[in-house]
Amino acid sequence: MKERLTIAMDGPAGSGKSTIAQRLAEKLDYLYLNSGSMYRAMTLLSIREGGDSTNVPMLTKLAKSCRIDFLDNGKTTLLNGEDVSDSLRTPEIDRAIVDIAKTPEVRHEMVKQQRRIGEKGGIIVEGRDVTTVVFPDADLKFYINASVEERAKRRFAEQKTRGIETTLEQVEKEIRDRDQMDESREHSPLRTAEDAIVIDTTSMTINQAVDFVLNRVEVG
Ligand code: CDP
Ligand code: CDP
Repeated sequence: MKERLTIAMDGPAGSGKSTIAQRLAEKLDYLYLNSGSMYRAMTLLSIREGGDSTNVPMLTKLAKSCRIDFLDNGKTTLLNGEDVSDSLRTPEIDRAIVDIAKTPEVRHEMVKQQRRIGEKGGIIVEGRDVTTVVFPDADLKFYINASVEERAKRRFAEQKTRGIETTLEQVEKEIRDRDQMDESREHSPLRTAEDAIVIDTTSMTINQAVDFVLNRVEVG
């Protein structure tokens, strides 16, 4: 097996990408990059600046000048040096992120930062366009999926543990809306790369999904 691979995973919300990628990175001693956290940090920044997500010059300036770093294998996100990890997974950001993610000038800057982090290989990166746009030459690509009902259940359970007041119906609706926007946007939409291995985790435990991916990595 080639040393220090670049492994890329895309898929919709709640499919299990982050959990699988993080566990795999620990097992292989690779870097883990959650590209969604970059878009989330950028969204937080734009909300703090007044939240006008249609102001492309302002967004471009913010995207060009901000620095996003990860510590502790992705568990901590630093936005211009500030630990914002606990402020990124809120329903407010879930709603606002769509406008940020569809802005090509912002994507351009985020992709630059992702390629900088991944330039040496030995990385597992996940998101919506990492198999198609960010690392089109990745050594291994996966598309992680699950039914929308199962993904909503997972996300609802997560939000409940974090004390976020919501209902399963509301979470499912938000996931469906975000899927639709991620799949239909003009720039870098979510799609399955032709050479990606597709995994449906609907009826898989996390351990089964991790073992499946690990097996494919070892086979090469
Ligand atoms: O954790 P979850 O799957 O809900 O989302 P995430 O990976 O944190 O990504 C949040 C949002 O950021 C997505 O719904 C996309 O709109 C955007 N995103 C993107 O456009 N491109 C990426 N490579 C990663 C995320
Ligand atoms: O990154 P993505 O949004 O694709 O999903 P995730 O954050 O890895 O997973 C969402 C939630 O579903 C987490 O709480 C996982 O523990 C859980 N999960 C699960 O129960 N079974 C799986 N096979 C994968 C994830």
